[in-house]
Amino acid sequence: MKATGISNGKIILMGEHSVVYGEPAIAIPFFATAIETTIKTTNGPVSLDCFFYKGPLSQAPKRLLNLVTVIIETVKKLDKPLKNFDITINSTIPAERGMGSSAAVAVATIRALFHYFEESLSNDVLLELTNISETIAHGNPSGLDAAMTSGTSPLYYIKGQKFEFFPLKVSAYLVVADTGITGQTKEAVENIALLYHSDPKKTDDSIKQLGQLAKEAKQAIQQNKTNQLGVYMTQAHTLLDSLGVSNTILNTLVHTSLESGALGAKLTGGGRGGCMIALAKNKEHASQLSDVLLNAGAKHTWIYNMRKDD
Ligand code: MEV
Repeated sequence: MKATGISNGKIILMGEHSVVYGEPAIAIPFFATAIETTIKTTNGPVSLDCFFYKGPLSQAPKRLLNLVTVIIETVKKLDKPLKNFDITINSTIPAERGMGSSAAVAVATIRALFHYFEESLSNDVLLELTNISETIAHGNPSGLDAAMTSGTSPLYYIKGQKFEFFPLKVSAYLVVADTGITGQTKEAVENIALLYHSDPKKTDDSIKQLGQLAKEAKQAIQQNKTNQLGVYMTQAHTLLDSLGVSNTILNTLVHTSLESGALGAKLTGGGRGGCMIALAKNKEHASQLSDVLLNAGAKHTWIYNMRKDD
């Protein structure tokens, strides 16, 4: 017997990090990158085959603790024995680059296990199980990555609140550039938590400003004000940099995009590596920006049409 489960990557347009503290974020499911988990019947202990490891589940390395835990918890929830199947994970989401790969691996694997055991899976249970994995990966997840990697519509997301679907209708393109450097979401989230202790007033101000920028970006999107949206994105990057979650290569790519006429640019996701996004006026401009970013050191780029949801 064989069953599969899928999930997709995600791009945070506005609100990473501040979303952890209850501020709004705008994020987009990113179907150009995806994960498929396949479960196949075998005899004996469960084995795992993924980018980082191939072998018995019980001997998987510590860095896969979030995945191993979510597999164990899902099988427990299904009330099935943890044996007699293999798990294979194929991913085109670059790992640890702010595109939600850790949440997406969990989502695809939970879906595959529920398919395999022929049980229906509610969204609430999917998010609850994914957040077990995300808590191990990030420490204090907002739930945004779980929602985006399992969802099909952009969201205006506030932690703990009902999902607000927010189809984008903006006459602009996003260029997504991968620095090729592994991001450090957990460390970045912890860094901001530490800043909250050492300098609560300043940190809280920055977080609130990031939230305000996400609210204003929402209005700019609704009014198709792309120049304004770009300005808010760049302002968000400056704040994120001041909170210690950017790095040299992200700053270089942001700077290079702006010099090449991007309407705005910022890091996306956890930061300290991973990916950045630049807002382009049109398709041709997006293609030029993509070339510029690759020349400046980006390892890979994707172009996303923000009018697609029209
Ligand atoms: C990571 O993709 C996004 C963060 O805001 C963390 C979270 O929302 O859980 C940095």
